[in-house]
Amino acid sequence: MNVHVAPWPNGHHPDDPRFVFARDVITGLTQQPKQLPPKYFYDETGSHLFEEITRLPEYYPTRTELKILRDRGADIASIIPPGAALVEFGAGATTKVRLLLERCRFAAYVPVDISGAFLNGQANGLRADFPDLAVHAVVADFTTPFLLPDAVKDMPKVGFFPGSTIGNFDPAEAAAFLQGARDILGEGATMIVGVDLEKAEPVLHAAYNDSAGVTAKFNENVLARVNRELGGDFDLSAFAHQAVYNRERHRIEMHLVSLKAQTAHLCDKSFSFSAGESIHTESSYKYSTERFQRLARESGWMPQAIWTDRDKMFSVHALTTKRD
Ligand SMILES: C[S@@+](CC[C@H](N)C(=O)[O-])C[C@H]1O[C@@H](n2cnc3c(N)ncnc32)[C@H](O)[C@@H]1O
Repeated sequence: MNVHVAPWPNGHHPDDPRFVFARDVITGLTQQPKQLPPKYFYDETGSHLFEEITRLPEYYPTRTELKILRDRGADIASIIPPGAALVEFGAGATTKVRLLLERCRFAAYVPVDISGAFLNGQANGLRADFPDLAVHAVVADFTTPFLLPDAVKDMPKVGFFPGSTIGNFDPAEAAAFLQGARDILGEGATMIVGVDLEKAEPVLHAAYNDSAGVTAKFNENVLARVNRELGGDFDLSAFAHQAVYNRERHRIEMHLVSLKAQTAHLCDKSFSFSAGESIHTESSYKYSTERFQRLARESGWMPQAIWTDRDKMFSVHALTTKRD
């Protein structure tokens, strides 16, 4: 959809991140049902809130994936080529990558993230803790093509995409992401992907509706950003967090539900909500190991190994572009 955004306070350029943000918000809120892209959760506040989520007792994915990476560190190290550059898509707090950096000898680490200030802080922390490692932070949207730094051009590449962030894409977008990652990393690359597994609904429900309300704050941060950065007038107290499992589509859906009939404004546009109408803000798809391997194959990657925890809550997949 081609959206006209006006009036814009300081003039605009189509590449201006604020213009792109406003255009995406207007596009999403003009659709039926209304939706917003999940990447806009992540400014510095959103990145900190996500870190809080990862420490919640109900949120099993982070501690389970960390345990797999810790327990299977030697197996993972055995498939890493010497002198490789590790490229992490959506680096966040860089907690998981530290386990890989401690066990495998990488020549360089390229954390990629859309949340620039948070990313640069994390990169500085890693430089201090791993003084022999070259760290090249790249602020980019990984759903669009971007260039790797020249310094890693000739190194073998290993992609790292933990956190089941791949589950935030619908299957067609996930395939497009994996194909794009293959283009960025190049022939001969390896990719390590964390993927959340299908499981009992009450476990999923608790993980995305935590009792401390942190996930609710994280969800609301997208509208808070629209108000803060774009001058919107969304009444945050008039929207409620809701996370439900859509069994048919194998996904948790996060919504912001309007608590009353209301109208909000952004730029010169009005958005009307009926009571109970929702904005779909994020999906978290859950996979079986077979369904994910099929998706990987269809996207140009060969499954190389899978590691899971004893209770089959989470999976870590190694993929390669090499064909035997
Ligand atoms: C679910 S968190 C995972 C963080 C970390 N890798 C982990 O496993 O704990 C997703 C991360 O990806 C980043 N992110 C989300 N969408 C992005 C996009 N389109 N481009 C680049 N980074 C993105 C967020 O800022 C956040 O740091």
